Amino acid sequence: MHKAIRIIAVVGLSMPLFLAAQSSNVTLPQDKGPDKINVSSYPADQQKGYKVFADKCAKCHTIARPINTTMTAPEWSRYVKRMMHKPNSGISDSQGKAIYEFLAYDQENRKDKNPSAFSKALSDEEIEKLKAQQH
Ligand code: HEC
Repeated sequence: MHKAIRIIAVVGLSMPLFLAAQSSNVTLPQDKGPDKINVSSYPADQQKGYKVFADKCAKCHTIARPINTTMTAPEWSRYVKRMMHKPNSGISDSQGKAIYEFLAYDQENRKDKNPSAFSKALSDEEIEKLKAQQH
């Protein structure tokens, strides 16, 4: 009996932490856009980077989120690091570098040419507001 209670308590307490670390529990405007990019005209390195990106950045939220978010290259650099440092992100330094290089190329050659088609990154405060509305 005691053992069962202890297990329930441990699972109950660690679950919210687990969810917070693993998944993004809010829908952002950029999540609703397309979830793939046609990279057939991109350089070979960027095509490889796209595969790493599509694999690694779809773990916690839809890949549509970064695909439809516009940021400057320095902001992408900071953002990839931020995502890498989330618990269990599963992204190594070399994968992070390949992803950043893909995102910087994609920003310059796709998003910057048609900026109004993409969403600006939301601030943490804006994301918290959406979370409160969606729950
Ligand atoms: C370990 C889970 C996890 C992984 C892996 C992950 N993300 Fe995220 N991402 C989040 C969370 C959590 C948020 C914040 C929003 C929220 O709290 O739901 C977020 C938000 C974002 C945003 C929205 C920024 C804004 O302000 O509008 C972008 C863009 C993004 N991630 C890109 C990426 C990219 C690129 C990768 C791959 C390098 C990636 N994410 C990998 C969890 C993750």
